[in-house]
Amino acid sequence: MKTVFVLNGPNLNLLGLREPGIYGAHTLADVEQLCAKAAARHQLALRFHQSNHEGALIDWLHEAGQLQRQGELAGVVLNAAAYTHTSVALMDAIKGAELPVIELHISNVHAREAFRHHSYIAPVAKAVICGLGVQGYSIAIDAVAQVLLGQTT
Ligand code: DQA
Repeated sequence: MKTVFVLNGPNLNLLGLREPGIYGAHTLADVEQLCAKAAARHQLALRFHQSNHEGALIDWLHEAGQLQRQGELAGVVLNAAAYTHTSVALMDAIKGAELPVIELHISNVHAREAFRHHSYIAPVAKAVICGLGVQGYSIAIDAVAQVLLGQTT
């Protein structure tokens, strides 16, 4: 069974409380349940994490890289939150391990402030999903299974 990582960056622990007009009413626990269902649908094991610390996200990307080298990684869904717009270190971690990453945002970052239009992740990602609300997580896991792994179910 291959593993899909879903990694969440800073402030996403406050989903449900934080700017609900932008991010909706669902909590991070709701998102984890959504991801668990999607992973089960495709017979993938799920590693779901959130951290407010850049280094913790990098450590999980390195772990994903280890699985990748063992042929056990399905892919990574990464909502790096604000680090998307600032982190060369996250970009380097993805590039260094040649990780199959889907960049994800709950909101449509392109319809928001100009500083959210640039992503350090996008150039090293397989795909970018944004603006679909938390449902985007489920769709991203479907994409990992159907596009990155080529599963037909
Ligand atoms: C976000 C968009 C980012 O610009 C922002 O900093 C976040 C969340 C999203 O999911 O829409 O924290 O990644």
